[in-house]
Amino acid sequence: MRPVIGRVRLAMGLAALGAAAGLGAIAALALTIDALLDPAPRPWPWVGLAAALTVAAFVLRALAARISHFAAFALEAHLRTELAAHLAGLPLGHLVDQGSGALAKVMQDDVNNLHAFVADSTPLLGRGTAAPLLTLALLLFIDWRLALVALGVLALGAAAIRLALRDHVDLQRRYDAECERIHNAVVEFVQAMPVVRSFDDGSSSFSRYQAALDGFHAVLSRWLAASATSARLGIVLLGPLPTLLALSACGLWWVQDGSLGFAAWIAVLLLGTGMAESLMPLMWLTHFIRKADASARRIQALLAVPALALPERPQQPMDASVRFDDVGFAYAGRADAALDGVSFEAPSGSVTALVGPSGAGKSTVAKLIPRFWDVTRGAVYVGGADVREMTPDALLGQVAFVFQDSFLFHDSIADNIRLGRPDADQAAIEAAARAAQAHDFILALPQGYASVAGERGARLSGGQRQRIAIARAILLDRPIVVLDEATAFADPENEAALVAALAHLMRGRTVIVIAHRLATVRDADQILVFDRGRIAERGRHAELLAAGGVYARLWHSHERAQGWQLRQRTAMEIPA
Ligand SMILES: Nc1ncnc2c1ncn2[C@@H]1O[C@H](COP(=O)(O)OP(=O)(O)OP(=O)(O)O)[C@@H](O)[C@H]1O
Ligand SMILES: [Mg+2]
Repeated sequence: MRPVIGRVRLAMGLAALGAAAGLGAIAALALTIDALLDPAPRPWPWVGLAAALTVAAFVLRALAARISHFAAFALEAHLRTELAAHLAGLPLGHLVDQGSGALAKVMQDDVNNLHAFVADSTPLLGRGTAAPLLTLALLLFIDWRLALVALGVLALGAAAIRLALRDHVDLQRRYDAECERIHNAVVEFVQAMPVVRSFDDGSSSFSRYQAALDGFHAVLSRWLAASATSARLGIVLLGPLPTLLALSACGLWWVQDGSLGFAAWIAVLLLGTGMAESLMPLMWLTHFIRKADASARRIQALLAVPALALPERPQQPMDASVRFDDVGFAYAGRADAALDGVSFEAPSGSVTALVGPSGAGKSTVAKLIPRFWDVTRGAVYVGGADVREMTPDALLGQVAFVFQDSFLFHDSIADNIRLGRPDADQAAIEAAARAAQAHDFILALPQGYASVAGERGARLSGGQRQRIAIARAILLDRPIVVLDEATAFADPENEAALVAALAHLMRGRTVIVIAHRLATVRDADQILVFDRGRIAERGRHAELLAAGGVYARLWHSHERAQGWQLRQRTAMEIPA
């Protein structure tokens, strides 16, 4: 809250002043009664004072709310700007690992929590603290015996509430955990619907949701059962009635024996009944404070993630080559290295194919080039410059990426293709789409290029999504392309379109491709065979086949699989 702390303090102070004015109005009313009892009554000045103080109380309260709301908006703007700027500088890999849900929660919910806290809770905090203390001071000033009576009732109420809250922290933690479980179960239930429903009617996933609900119910009932009696007692005792009764009885006694003035008694009754009630807001304020505190911690944790270091003296790439020099890399929290001693050079305009078994480290190589993460050993060079010595703009100005799971925005197809070049005109977009073999299917969509892709591109097939991503990369026209080829699509027509699109994208560029396609591998200038994080073999297709090593084995099993598919297809086409 540092950026708005001045305004927050001002709002709290004004709210406290407002509470004081309200109490002053009550005191003035008591003095009105006192004046009425005078042989020559002159109550009007006191009535005027009471009215003026009431107006002042309202004005101060409104002013405090206005200031705190403006402070809340200022804080929200500050946090969102800072978080957005910080996210932009974080390693991409961190964002991927965190998951978009968790980040969205911090950006949305946690910032909103702080907004609500500053806007509504801070004036209440000022008022809720000042009112009981000032009341107590006034009561002590008027008649210390009655002040003690009021305090006694209050103490009983507080003790009852304390009893009700004895396991509060533990129960609250369990309550929060159950809430979180329900939240996750709902999200899973909704998100997994298409998958789940193809296995059963959704009841397995729904039963998890049901179990979460049951757990929540159990915690809540135990909490309520354990605390119900004492909580009710506390709430009754802290209400106005018990205090009023005690103050009436004792006050009457003391008025009769002449040790308490009538007006003083009235003043105590008016003030004392309000004192207990003015404590109530503080009780539920603790809930909001805890919530805001948790949000602030999550925001701080995100802001504390170190950003990618920017170079002091940025270097410019000299050409379109890519070079890995003895690169070692381990994912955070994993003991084994994902890459170990990887060295290779991809000269400008060449095609380098990465192949190897699943989990061998191919995608990791691709992701180290745009600095999803930084290497733990060695260095990655683009155009002769260490990627850590380049500005993000210079690096991304050199390289385009097409990943398997291409992300499409919930936006028109045209805007999705235009992503990296906002100024591109329709002609350029269509040319790129044609080259990516996407033009025809786009025109067949209801609104052509203006059709909306659906959330995450849900309204397009996997092959279509990838061709849009290729069109995006073609339009970007970067000298280096890093490509995670999609695994073969069953539909041969789609397959052929994809091969043609890729051929277009790769023409004249330096290409690092994680290859799943025969054509790509066979025509590559060099093939790097990865195995458990190391380059096991390298060379061209024919050389590697002849060598009879890992590559030859992969190749033969691949061919067997193809042949098997072919036989399957033939068998299926023969009518029974
Ligand atoms: N974000 C991540 N966090 C932790 N470990 C990861 C992460 N991504 C990959 N790994 C691990 O790093 C190793 C290499 O993974 P990588 O994705 O590079 O393999 P790959 O060769 O691309 O496999 P595939 O052909 O299945 O895509 C694997 O052991 C994998 O479990
Ligand atoms: Mg991979």
